[in-house]
Amino acid sequence: MAEAFRYSAILLCVVLVLLIGCSEQLQSSQGETLLRIQRLLNYPSSLSSWNSSIDFCNSEPNASVTVVCYEKSITQLHIVGNKGTPRLPGDFSIDSFVTTLVGLPSLKVLTLVALGLWGPLPGKIARLSSLEILNVSSNFLYEAIPRELSSLSSIQSLGLDDNMFAGEVPNWIGSLQVLSVLSLRKNMLNGSLPDSLSNLENLRVLALSHNYFQGEVPDLGSLRNLQVLDLEDNAFGPQFPRLGNKLVSLVLSKNKFRDGLPAGVTSYYQLQRLDLSNNTFVGPFPQSLLSLPSVTYLNIAHNKFTGMLSENQSCSADLEFVDLSTNLLTGRMPKLSSARLQEKGLQKKRKPSRTIIAISVVGGIVGGAALVGLIYLAVIKVKSGKTIQKSTTRVIAENASIGYPSKLLSDARYISQTMKLGALGLPAYRTFSLEELEEATNNFNTSAFMGDRSQGKIYRGGLRMVPLSSSDA
Ligand SMILES: *[C@@H]1O[C@H](CO)[C@@H](O)[C@H](O)[C@H]1NC(C)=O
Ligand SMILES: *[C@@H]1O[C@H](CO)[C@@H](O)[C@H](O)[C@H]1NC(C)=O
Ligand SMILES: *[C@@H]1O[C@H](CO)[C@@H](O)[C@H](O)[C@H]1NC(C)=O
Ligand SMILES: *[C@@H]1O[C@H](CO)[C@@H](O)[C@H](O)[C@H]1NC(C)=O
Ligand SMILES: *[C@@H]1O[C@H](CO)[C@@H](O)[C@H](O)[C@H]1NC(C)=O
Ligand SMILES: *[C@@H]1O[C@H](CO)[C@@H](O)[C@H](O)[C@H]1NC(C)=O
Repeated sequence: MAEAFRYSAILLCVVLVLLIGCSEQLQSSQGETLLRIQRLLNYPSSLSSWNSSIDFCNSEPNASVTVVCYEKSITQLHIVGNKGTPRLPGDFSIDSFVTTLVGLPSLKVLTLVALGLWGPLPGKIARLSSLEILNVSSNFLYEAIPRELSSLSSIQSLGLDDNMFAGEVPNWIGSLQVLSVLSLRKNMLNGSLPDSLSNLENLRVLALSHNYFQGEVPDLGSLRNLQVLDLEDNAFGPQFPRLGNKLVSLVLSKNKFRDGLPAGVTSYYQLQRLDLSNNTFVGPFPQSLLSLPSVTYLNIAHNKFTGMLSENQSCSADLEFVDLSTNLLTGRMPKLSSARLQEKGLQKKRKPSRTIIAISVVGGIVGGAALVGLIYLAVIKVKSGKTIQKSTTRVIAENASIGYPSKLLSDARYISQTMKLGALGLPAYRTFSLEELEEATNNFNTSAFMGDRSQGKIYRGGLRMVPLSSSDA
């Protein structure tokens, strides 16, 4: 998807390496350390070109391997294996591996993703005291998050996703003053979150989805920079969390939230993605959420929201996806803003390449307390379907910039990490490929045709809601 973005990032890297890299001569001990790492990782295919005669500092970076040097030392090491890499063999020792890693004492950025690493993460990794970004996602690391990480006072981004870390989020996390990204998705973490999280003033991304957390979310109202909060698939609740109003993506789906929405939600002027689905929210659904200035994705399905929808409610011009199904709502779904009379003004605002609007709404008028089961999807096909893929790419690439620690973008030494963080791509929007749309509408068959709108023809069809994994973005 973000091929273009990645490509330009790689180009930028190459240029930078040419500009600053040529004079670097790596200390030989650090070169030996890299070769030892290659051996301990059981010679993964991504490192097949490493040998004793290679000039590590001036080797060309790519999406799976990047080495960056500064004044004869390695400051960044990225090794990304293939998705689904199995555990390293039984004789692998995570302890020896980390002991080897600390032989690269100047490391600021360390990415070891999908390499089959297994075992408890040794606390001595914190001897890499300059670390600013640590990403060990998609391995088989287990037991608690080691306490020694609390001494990493420069750490800006901590990514432990898709491992088997267990226990609670430690209270000391609140002492990592410059932490900007905390990503612990898909682990076995449990308990309730420590109140100290509210000390993390620089936090932009807090991603805790797919764990076993429970209880109330601590007060995050003081986190002025928080843009992405992803709590999907835990047991948080019942109260809606206290949050600042700078959120760009808020995902609370599949939890135990119940109490009604606070009035403040309707003031989230930067909010693009709001997913409250699969909770037991009660109380009125504030229809004005449909007209939040930035909203593109709104999903409140599978709750007990009440209220009467009005077809006259205006919708944000950027709205691409709405699912209000399985609630206690009555009335009629508001019209697509693009189809309304304000049409002329909106037409200007709308970017010409935007092409897809997929909407899933309550089917018709529903009485009283009856649950709404009917969903239909309307897909607007614009002029030539061929433009769909292109615009999708653009949307995702634009959003990929959200959540970078600002320093990463300004500091040339981090440029190849921004290439990696491109994949962080938060928030990941669900968009649809032309093939999916063709399948859903039976190749835009006339039986699925619903009518004309200013920006194209509307077709009806069912689409599977498979969440985008970050690696697709
Ligand atoms: C990336 O670079 C590494 C080492 O520099 C090399 O071994 C690997 O084959 C390269 N991968 C691709 C896809 O080019
Ligand atoms: C090291 O690898 C390079 C290519 O990556 C190859 O040309 C060279 O012969 C290799 N050297 C040794 C000693 O294997
Ligand atoms: C959390 O998990 C640990 C083991 O992983 C267990 O000992 C502990 O009882 C669990 N705590 C809660 C609150 O479920
Ligand atoms: C929400 O719950 C419904 C019904 O249990 C289920 O079909 C749907 O897949 C769930 N959605 C998500 C995103 O988990
Ligand atoms: C919606 O607007 C139309 C035309 O402006 C009006 O006739 C209708 O009564 C309105 N409906 C509601 C529920 O306000
Ligand atoms: C860790 O690296 C992987 C692979 O590059 C990337 O997809 C993921 O977004 C990174 N995670 C964080 C928190 O930066």
